[in-house]
Amino acid sequence: MENTSVPAVDTVRESYSARAQEYADLFGSVTSAHPLDLALIGSWTDTVAGPVLDAGCGPGQWTNFLAGRGLAVSGVDLVPEFVERARAQYPEHSFEIGSFEALDTPSGALGGVLSWYSLIHHSPNDIRIPIAEFARVIRSGGGLLLGFFEGPTVEAFDHAVATAYRWPVAALAQQLTDAGFEVVETHTRRESGYRPHGAITAVRSHAR
Ligand SMILES: C[S@@+](CC[C@H](N)C(=O)[O-])C[C@H]1O[C@@H](n2cnc3c(N)ncnc32)[C@H](O)[C@@H]1O
Repeated sequence: MENTSVPAVDTVRESYSARAQEYADLFGSVTSAHPLDLALIGSWTDTVAGPVLDAGCGPGQWTNFLAGRGLAVSGVDLVPEFVERARAQYPEHSFEIGSFEALDTPSGALGGVLSWYSLIHHSPNDIRIPIAEFARVIRSGGGLLLGFFEGPTVEAFDHAVATAYRWPVAALAQQLTDAGFEVVETHTRRESGYRPHGAITAVRSHAR
């Protein structure tokens, strides 16, 4: 297989492994999610058919949420501690340790991918790799939902776990268009006490 690995992947895995318990205690339940994020992800589930992949599922709370909305869903994450916790907490769902840079999923097999804050550590040079992988595994007409840190320019910043990046919506939308997605909706939110948030829903438009 072509080497599609991203240099930062090992750093990201090790950094989350070291703080997996802390992260899961803080964010491992949808009750800690912003109500507008719950509403957006909930309404997105009405637009996709399964199977859906929660790509970078962390402790699995969104996988469980999507399943609760009636979708056939599984989760994948780099970090064994997250996957172990997700399996223990939600034994009825399927979780795998792996990288979404190179999924063990046939082309066009998925109806959708949720990537909720899971591309935040990918540099502008690297982000096309997972986006191309999402485009490969989502069938034509299938959906993608990205959540990310929004900002006026593409810019790295010190995130508590590992270096992360802010993206203008238009720049990330262009990455999706370049990979064969059609952007459907964009959302931004600025609230004191929170980092600016962005979300994009897109549909896999054509075979590349
Ligand atoms: C900020 S956390 C978000 C986790 C979860 N989606 C949530 O909303 O709580 C980023 C997650 O992406 C995962 N991740 C980052 N790069 C990945 C990759 N290449 N393959 C699989 N998972 C990855 C990390 O391990 C981490 O669990």
